[in-house]
Amino acid sequence: MSYTNILSDQKGGITTITVNRPLKLNALNTETIAELHEAFKSADNDSSTKVIIITGSGEKAFVAGADISEFADFSVSEGAELARKGQAVLFDFVANLSTPVIAAVNGFALGGGLELAMAAHFRIASDNARMGLPEVSLGVIPGYGGTQRLPQLVGKGRAMEMIMTAGMIDANAALDYGLVNHTVTQEELLPLAQKIAGKIMRNSSVAIASAIKAINAGYTDGVNGFQAEIDAFGDCFGTEDFTEGTTAFLEKRKANFPGK
Ligand code: COA
Repeated sequence: MSYTNILSDQKGGITTITVNRPLKLNALNTETIAELHEAFKSADNDSSTKVIIITGSGEKAFVAGADISEFADFSVSEGAELARKGQAVLFDFVANLSTPVIAAVNGFALGGGLELAMAAHFRIASDNARMGLPEVSLGVIPGYGGTQRLPQLVGKGRAMEMIMTAGMIDANAALDYGLVNHTVTQEELLPLAQKIAGKIMRNSSVAIASAIKAINAGYTDGVNGFQAEIDAFGDCFGTEDFTEGTTAFLEKRKANFPGK
């Protein structure tokens, strides 16, 4: 499928989705959000995709936020609908995918851009990356999950400060905060994402999908994460991957997971 605002490329088990509006610093307009939904959905449904990498095109930005020009004249109800729909089709959608999603943050990740990176399962960054939730400087608050995911990742106090000051942190501070797992040069960013993806791909995709579900359960209101883990753990015993993984270990050979 061809897209206007994004690129999607599948190679060696990895689908790389690139937000491709470099002249607008890859800002997320409605069309881009819809295209991202389609690209993530089709990568998740594609059995040959084992890992998804999300990044931005150009050397300056991952994503510089939601497209401010689109919502500047919105009413109260239109504002609420923008956040509700965006969370459903992209941000919660990505966070709950069964296929692992790595955000390769290659520059500015602001507002909706940082929210997209935080919706991914984990993040790595290039050393020029700058991250922040500047919404209060526009008279609005983060609406794509930022008030929830930032405190989960960096702690309440740091999230409060970042959101209230509307400031940006650099890659080193993001590493220190635990917002990103690794920082490297821009040239090394995608190779590192691919290297980590390679390690993930050696494991059971079915077990990984269950692990994502169990981890996310702990962050879902009204759901007991420990119980979700017990259920998901039990389910693994009925999979072909479990039979293959344990048999391969006992036979002292490398597992060849069928992904079922
Ligand atoms: N929405 C819409 N357009 C955006 C955008 C956004 N979030 N972020 C950047 N752009 C556009 C600019 O309007 C500009 O377009 P133009 O060339 O047609 O005027 C283009 O991208 C380049 O941005 P510019 O501001 O000229 O680059 P800069 O290097 O001077 O500044 C930033 C970079 C990231 C500091 C600045 O673009 C910025 O503050 N962006 C908004 C960040 C934000 O508040 N995001 C949260 C939105 S809720």
